[in-house]
Amino acid sequence: MRKLNTLFLVMLSSMLHANQLGENTYQIACKNCHSPKLAVAIKAPAAFDTKAWNKRFDNAEQESKSNPTQFKTPIDYLVYNVKIGKGLMYHGGLCNESDEPNKNCSDEAFTQAIYYMSDRKAAAE
Ligand code: HEC
Repeated sequence: MRKLNTLFLVMLSSMLHANQLGENTYQIACKNCHSPKLAVAIKAPAAFDTKAWNKRFDNAEQESKSNPTQFKTPIDYLVYNVKIGKGLMYHGGLCNESDEPNKNCSDEAFTQAIYYMSDRKAAAE
């Protein structure tokens, strides 16, 4: 029984690790606005609200189709908007202001945070 528990914990921790970057980025920056409680008030797609995120991904798909040189994939379009800012979201999505070691979030950090918030798996996986 103890062996089984250990096995379970090992599996759990590796699962958590897979999305650590996305979750960390969410916790240090995006959560300030995208947390389910706050997001609706400022018209941001709420974290884990798959319906809201599907709309964003649908739109991103259109954008990437009409401008494939700039946006190879829908996620490129979304990451681009986080970087330049959109509506009330200022550029960098507060990543610059956070005190974490990975201050200026990388494209990969934005990408993983978007997948984390939208409950999607990275396309590359
Ligand atoms: C200051 C508040 C704020 C923070 C911090 C913030 N966002 Fe946003 N975000 C918004 C708002 C508001 C919108 C809706 C903008 C609109 O459509 O007008 C939005 C929209 C988005 C979109 C959809 C863009 C599109 O083109 O539809 C993505 C993707 C996104 N945020 C990702 C992130 C990520 C990743 C982080 C953390 C690194 C983050 N946001 C941090 C407020 C914020």
